[in-house]
Amino acid sequence: MIRRRARAPKAWAGRFAAPTASAAEAFTTSLPLDRRLYPHDIDGSVAHLRALVRARLITRRERVRLERGLARVRRELDAGRFRFLASDEDIHVAIERRLTELAGPVGGKLHTGRSRNDQVALDLRLWLRAECDALDAALGRVQRALAALARRHPGALLPGYTHLQRAQPILLAHHLLAYREMLARDRTRFRDCRARADELPLGAGALAGAGFPLDRKFVARLLGFARVTTNSLDAVADRDAAAEFLAAAAICAVHLSRLAEDLVLWATEEFGFLELPDAFATGSSMMPQKKNPDVAELVRGKTGRVIGALVALLTTLKGLPLAYNRDLQEDKPPLFDAADTLGQSLDVLAAMLPHLRFDTRRMAAAADGLLLATDLADLLVERGVPFRRAHAIVGGLVRHCLTSGTSLRDLDAAVLRRHSPRLTPEMVRRLTPARSVARRRVIGGTAPREVARQLARARREDAP
Ligand code: ARG
Repeated sequence: MIRRRARAPKAWAGRFAAPTASAAEAFTTSLPLDRRLYPHDIDGSVAHLRALVRARLITRRERVRLERGLARVRRELDAGRFRFLASDEDIHVAIERRLTELAGPVGGKLHTGRSRNDQVALDLRLWLRAECDALDAALGRVQRALAALARRHPGALLPGYTHLQRAQPILLAHHLLAYREMLARDRTRFRDCRARADELPLGAGALAGAGFPLDRKFVARLLGFARVTTNSLDAVADRDAAAEFLAAAAICAVHLSRLAEDLVLWATEEFGFLELPDAFATGSSMMPQKKNPDVAELVRGKTGRVIGALVALLTTLKGLPLAYNRDLQEDKPPLFDAADTLGQSLDVLAAMLPHLRFDTRRMAAAADGLLLATDLADLLVERGVPFRRAHAIVGGLVRHCLTSGTSLRDLDAAVLRRHSPRLTPEMVRRLTPARSVARRRVIGGTAPREVARQLARARREDAP
C-alpha cells in the first residue's frame, strides 16, 4: 500500500530548493517493481552493518539497534503491513526511511560508505542467484516429467519428421528425451550464469570505491559470495549477469515453445497423436465441439515476451557511458517479467505433462509405410550396393508405390527384380517400424536399447 499524501524529505534533498514535481516522482519511481527485492536488500544491509562495526564506523550497540530495526522492517514487509510513501523513490530508500523512523537518528548511519548504486547491484546479484536456483529446480521438475512420460511408453513408435514431412520411425520416448536434453543444457546455462554472478559489488560506492576501509571479503563471506568485484566502475555499471540470465531464459523459453508446438500439432485431429487432459485445455464460447490447447499455445506465446526481455535489456545497456546511469533501473521490468513468465511456463508444463494421453496405435500406424525407404536402401548397402545407387533404386520403387498405390512391403518379385537383381520379396517383407528403430543402435540413436540407456542416465541424474 502506498500513502499518496504522506511524504518524507528525500535522502538527497539537501542541495535542492524545491520539492520534486509529482509527475517526476511518478515517472522516476521504481518502487512498484523493486519492492520485491526487499529480502535481499535487508540481507545486504545486515552484512554491511557488520562491516561498519569492523571499520569502527558504528558501535556494536548501534549495530544491534539497527539490526533489530531492520528485522522489524522485514516483518512489516513480510506481513504486507509496510506503509510506503509517495516520496519513496525505491525500495532502498523506503527501507532506510522506515528504519530511521523506528530506530531514530542512528538509522542515518546505515548508508555510510554505501551508495544505492552498489546497493542495487548487490540486490540484483542476490536476486539472480536465487532465481537461477529456482529455475534450475523448476527445469528439473519438467525433466523428470518428460522422463516419466518416456518410461510409461517404452515401445511406442511415431514418425520422426524433417520439414514436417514423415521421415523415419522413432520411439516416442526418444522424442520426449530430446526435450530433456535441451532442458539439461538450459540448467547448465543458469548454473554458469549464477557462477559468474557470484561476486560482491558492495564496496564500490557510487562509482569510485567506498571511502572507508570496509572489509569487502568479510562481507562477501557473510553473504555467501565466491569473490568480490575487482573494479568499482564496472561493479556499478555492469549488468552482464542480468543479460546472461535473460539469454539463458530466452533460449530455455524457445525450447519450451518448440515442445509446446509439438503438443499443439499432435493434439490436432489431423495428427491425432495426443488427447489433451480436460484439466489443461479450454473450450470455445461459440463452437461446442472445440477443445483447444491454450496452455501449450500460451507457453509458445509467452516465449515472445522472454525474447523481448533480452532485447530490451541489451538495448538499454548498449549506449551507456560509465558508470551508473538511471537507465539501469530499466533492467528490472524485463528481468522480473522474464523470470516470472518462464517460471510459470515451467510449472504448468510440469503439471500438465503427466496427464498427456497418447494414441499409440495411431502414432505407430503413421510411422509405417514409405518411412521405411531408408531401411530398404540400407539393406541393399548390406548386400554390397553403394549407398548412392541404393538410394536411386529405392527412389524408383517409391515412385512405383505412389503411382500404383502399393506399399513397399507388398511389392512382388517381378517388380523388385526390375529395379535391382539384389532385391527380394523377403527383404521388403522384413521392413517394419520396429526393425527400423532397432537398427539405430549408435550412441544417441532411437533403438530401444539406446533409449533405455538414455533413460537410465536420466534416472541417475534425477536421483536426489
Ligand atoms: N532505483 C535505482 C535503480 O534501480 C537505484 C539506484 C539509484 N541511484 C541513483 N543514483 N539515482 O537503479
